[in-house]
Amino acid sequence: MRLVPKYIKNLSPYVPGKRIEDIKINSNLGKIIKLSSNENPYGPSKKAIKIINTCFKNLHRYPDSSGFLLRKKISKIYKVNIDNVILGNGSEGIMSAIIRTFLNETDEMISSENSFIGFRVLANASGKKINWVKAKNYKYNLHAISDKINENTKIIYLANPDNPTGTYFNKLNFEKFMNNVPERTLVILDEAYFEFASHLKDYPDSMSYRFDNVITLRTFSKGYGLAGLRIGYGLAHRELISNLMKVKLPFEPSTPAQLAALEALNDSEHLRKTIKFNIIGIDMLIKQFDLLGLSYIDTSANFITLIFDNYKKASYFTSFMLENGIILRSLKGFGLDNCVRISIGTINEIKIFIKILKKYES
Ligand SMILES: Cc1ncc(COP(=O)(O)O)c(C=O)c1O
Repeated sequence: MRLVPKYIKNLSPYVPGKRIEDIKINSNLGKIIKLSSNENPYGPSKKAIKIINTCFKNLHRYPDSSGFLLRKKISKIYKVNIDNVILGNGSEGIMSAIIRTFLNETDEMISSENSFIGFRVLANASGKKINWVKAKNYKYNLHAISDKINENTKIIYLANPDNPTGTYFNKLNFEKFMNNVPERTLVILDEAYFEFASHLKDYPDSMSYRFDNVITLRTFSKGYGLAGLRIGYGLAHRELISNLMKVKLPFEPSTPAQLAALEALNDSEHLRKTIKFNIIGIDMLIKQFDLLGLSYIDTSANFITLIFDNYKKASYFTSFMLENGIILRSLKGFGLDNCVRISIGTINEIKIFIKILKKYES
């Protein structure tokens, strides 16, 4: 069809993790455990659920397009001005607005080859040139990324910690990297898994720096358990935010999303438990992987990635788990054919996973 530009025709559509419903239709398995999309296995905060229940009667009204209350709250938490905060339909909503706002005809982007697939889809859909840099030992090669910067480089995308590897770059490497980034180049610092990594001493919390060319993205989808509502936020220089505000969808995020996010921020106990059980869950899994001689990538997020010798073995593992009612994420779509990602479930789900894992023979 001539109506569709070539760069859109050539795109591969985003393939999300399998849903529980997809598996139920084709199998007679009883309980199915979904460990494929890095969601919060404990669900949202009860406070968030309670507030959503109160807002149904007003759903005939449009949301507050300025997102005033939530932006105000976020600005207080980070000790910045409300003009430094933007909300979006998930952090991906803001990523999409960034790509639509800042790129001129000849501008280019740079990112790491096997990083977050959501950015890859948005970047490819822009039709702009993207320079993909190879990762090194499943980590961002920041040195190689800065070497790729040219006079057309407008956006660099970095996820820290990264998905699907769970690795992070430290303060020293981030600071060295930023020294090599010109002011005319925008750095998207995607910190979707911030809540799980912020306790690490050498983790470079982007909000403790002041770079006028960095946009920090965070989300309510992971630690706060609100992935289904689609709400995330961005923090940056007011001039970047004011231009993004002109381009974002006027009424994103929805009213229930804004209200639930406000309440989620008031429930620090829920977040604390989520982080605590995530650490316990990772320890349980690592112990088992070590016992069974399975290779994995050290993680600082709410998932862990197993490394197999080849695609065949990785694919066998994913199918074996699926036959036993556990949905994992094959990383073929991320370009890591030999890897399988496991989201950290509840302690109970991990116990079931481990029981099945013990039956697995490579
Ligand atoms: C690195 C990274 N960024 C962003 C997102 C998407 O976040 P949101 O739900 O806020 O759009 C994900 C989700 O998996 C992710 O892994």
